[in-house]
Amino acid sequence: MELLNPQPGERVLDLGCGDGTLTAHLREGGVSVVGVDASSDQVEAARALGLDARVVNGEALNFEDEFDAVFSNAAMHWMPNAEAVIDGVWQALKPGGRFVSEMGGFGNVKSIRAALETALHAHGFDGRLANPWYFPTPEEQRERLEQRGFEVRSISLFDRPTPLPGGMGDWLETFAESYIGVASDVLRQSIVGEVCQRLQPILVDESGTWIADYVRLRFIAVRPC
Ligand code: BEZ
Repeated sequence: MELLNPQPGERVLDLGCGDGTLTAHLREGGVSVVGVDASSDQVEAARALGLDARVVNGEALNFEDEFDAVFSNAAMHWMPNAEAVIDGVWQALKPGGRFVSEMGGFGNVKSIRAALETALHAHGFDGRLANPWYFPTPEEQRERLEQRGFEVRSISLFDRPTPLPGGMGDWLETFAESYIGVASDVLRQSIVGEVCQRLQPILVDESGTWIADYVRLRFIAVRPC
């Protein structure tokens, strides 16, 4: 949000707005904001806050020269067709507009992915095929942005260990459906248990809190005038 530095009166697109928490924050700052998300449940929650939220796939944005900025937080790693996303953002921005994003970057949730793949493998599944996420390096992302014509003002990758208030079981049930969903209901419970057991020595701190091994990729890019 600080990097976005939104100004009152600006028109901003929140790409992957989820339940609208940050979108509402933008609106409170006097920004005219549109939120888009592929999940109709999330969009419904955002609309319940009175926001202009729309069900739109981030890989098929359909705006034209409309926004001063496109903002995206913790969403773009769910959109593996990065070229399509970047192209849609380019089209959505006015010339001179900025694209400010933070997403999972290379190495994100590395130990969680490894534990999921090991557990699935032990039960005869190929977990590598279940990976729904796109976690690029800064070099890859810069290249994609520049290929489309963006000027990359900054891009960085950094660790952000993140406490999970609901623990690893909840996190897996919420975010790892494409892995654990390959198994039957009964087997699914064992897989979640095995993954938690494997990760416990690595990701639980002295106070008993689960800490996810998040890595963030953050960038600012501008569509030149
Ligand atoms: C994240 O890095 O924010 C994230 C990655 C995978 C699933 C859920 C969240």
